Amino acid sequence: MRVRMASERITHKPSNRSFKDRALVLFSFVLILFATIFLISKTPILNPPLESKISENPQNLSQKLPSFSSQLNPSLYHSNGTEVIYQIPSSPKAVLFVAHGCNLHAYDFWDKSPNCPHCTGLPEDRLFVLQALELNMAVITISSLGKCWSFQREMKNVQWIIQTWAEKHKLENLPKFAMGASSGGYFVSALATKMEFKSICIMIAEGVFGKIDIPKNYPPTLFVHMVKDRIRADAVLSNMAELRDTGVEVKEIRCEEIPLDANFLAKRIPGLDQGFVDKLIQVFHKKGFLDEKGYLKKDGRAIKWKEALLERKLIPEKFKLFSHVNEELNLAFGYHEFTSLKNDEIFEWFESHMRRN
Ligand SMILES: *[C@@H]1O[C@H](CO)[C@@H](O)[C@H](O)[C@H]1NC(C)=O
Ligand SMILES: *[C@@H]1O[C@H](CO)[C@@H](O)[C@H](O)[C@H]1NC(C)=O
Repeated sequence: MRVRMASERITHKPSNRSFKDRALVLFSFVLILFATIFLISKTPILNPPLESKISENPQNLSQKLPSFSSQLNPSLYHSNGTEVIYQIPSSPKAVLFVAHGCNLHAYDFWDKSPNCPHCTGLPEDRLFVLQALELNMAVITISSLGKCWSFQREMKNVQWIIQTWAEKHKLENLPKFAMGASSGGYFVSALATKMEFKSICIMIAEGVFGKIDIPKNYPPTLFVHMVKDRIRADAVLSNMAELRDTGVEVKEIRCEEIPLDANFLAKRIPGLDQGFVDKLIQVFHKKGFLDEKGYLKKDGRAIKWKEALLERKLIPEKFKLFSHVNEELNLAFGYHEFTSLKNDEIFEWFESHMRRN
């Protein structure tokens, strides 16, 4: 820092510099160069350009599932009327609060295990948490008090829970980040006015920026949204403009629909075998749920796929992976669902703001 200030002072001097001045300029220039190289070599991922858009490139989705060395092995406790589920990697470098959407819970982010017998491990949500742990982020998930997040009381609650948890585990000095999907996205956008986050990610939500005064130091905000939901896409755009006008760094990642693919389902939902998903796709074609290119014609919530599979006795009456398959169908339809397909870009964004003051 001192080097940069010295060089600024010098470069603003008038042009008739003495030899000594020039030597000093050269010296500070070399110092800055070395400092930059040092910083870059220590930054795992280079800063992406400001406000750049990452467009959806056609990808082979069956190949896309990364392998993780981390495992989901969370701890649980109850606090202030709700459930807190978290996991801290052995050398945590940051804290990430993840807020779920309506009708979901903290336990949907984690696999069912002896530690958490009621955990459901929804496919996209668990992949998101796994990626965070893989990057040595301590992850904390909290269930909302009602079906969706409420703002007044719950903001204080969550702030209190995160702070006491971080202090207890000596994480209070680590950079903090937050990610919220849908109702959780609105919640995180408001929480960021009360808590200090290095940056936030708001997924499939435009945030509550119309209702809050955006402070100057509001954290850099990444919007991940599904463009098929055009009303929301427009709202995201106008909120991005408002944030930008306030001097807040913003960026968007636009998600598009993808064709439903048997490999994709089998790989992303632990417990589904290839034979089953092949039959599922056949049934979907027969029932006309898919168009000729394999895209879903409707959202997973809007088609009677469970009935179609039950009719053909492909699933039992109490099919345990209903919500899991539904989530992947909604993701493929690309209108409103949690997605981990953009993990790389999202975590790159977080990494690039690790050092923000
Ligand atoms: C996608 O990847 C899978 C698995 O590697 C492969 O079997 C399939 O042929 C690929 N599809 C395309 C369209 O490249
Ligand atoms: C949460 O619960 C603790 C312990 O009962 C209490 O001291 C604290 O004030 C509560 N926090 C909020 C925000 O209500």
